[in-house]
Amino acid sequence: MAVRAEGPFRLTDGRAIWLRPLRAEDATLLVDLCKRLSPQSARRRFLRYPLPCDRREAERLADVDQVRRVALAVVADPAADGPILGVGRFHADGSDGRAELALVVADEYQHVGLGRLLLKRLCREAVRRRLRMFEGYVLYDNAPMLRLLRTSGQPLQVHWDGGDVLTIQLGVAAA
Ligand SMILES: CC(C)(COP(=O)(O)OP(=O)(O)OC[C@H]1O[C@@H](n2cnc3c(N)ncnc32)[C@H](O)[C@@H]1OP(=O)(O)O)[C@@H](O)C(=O)NCCC(=O)NCCS
Repeated sequence: MAVRAEGPFRLTDGRAIWLRPLRAEDATLLVDLCKRLSPQSARRRFLRYPLPCDRREAERLADVDQVRRVALAVVADPAADGPILGVGRFHADGSDGRAELALVVADEYQHVGLGRLLLKRLCREAVRRRLRMFEGYVLYDNAPMLRLLRTSGQPLQVHWDGGDVLTIQLGVAAA
């Protein structure tokens, strides 16, 4: 099931971006994105800091098949080799209708609607694949992500088993 480039999308501050499938050749751009993240964003995405931002991890993250492991890259121009401004992904490694969700938006592009756009597109791709739920790990003080999930219009469950990481379950349905 192919995922095509889509856009342009206008963000709330007027900037335009495109969404395109992430590909194996993007590993270098993922290392660059990782290095540009603020400590807070890096910790919120990867639940640890400092990050090594190493090539091996980037190659693992770029290794998606766009079928069970789906990842969308945010770019300013899909025809150019410019930086990646954000990534939304889900990995459905089991066969129980669940997939692990992760989002990251470059600091200078946060809070202008990109997270919401990525989540909406990922939900659509998940529905196409007959998935029923996203799961993910969110730091308890990650207010932007929790607010984004709560206002997504999809049923949300948040579990806390101690510690500073919450487990979230978000139902996915066609919006
Ligand atoms: C979480 C994250 C993906 C949200 O992306 P974003 O592009 O900033 O989100 P949006 O602009 O679409 O905002 C979505 C909603 O989240 C909330 N939100 C976003 N930024 C916020 C902030 N700084 N403070 C409070 N709420 C915020 C708002 O409710 C917003 O909706 P509204 O402004 O339309 O009312 C982004 O902040 C990020 O990449 N953070 C670091 C990585 C991370 O936390 N990943 C999640 C764990 S996998």
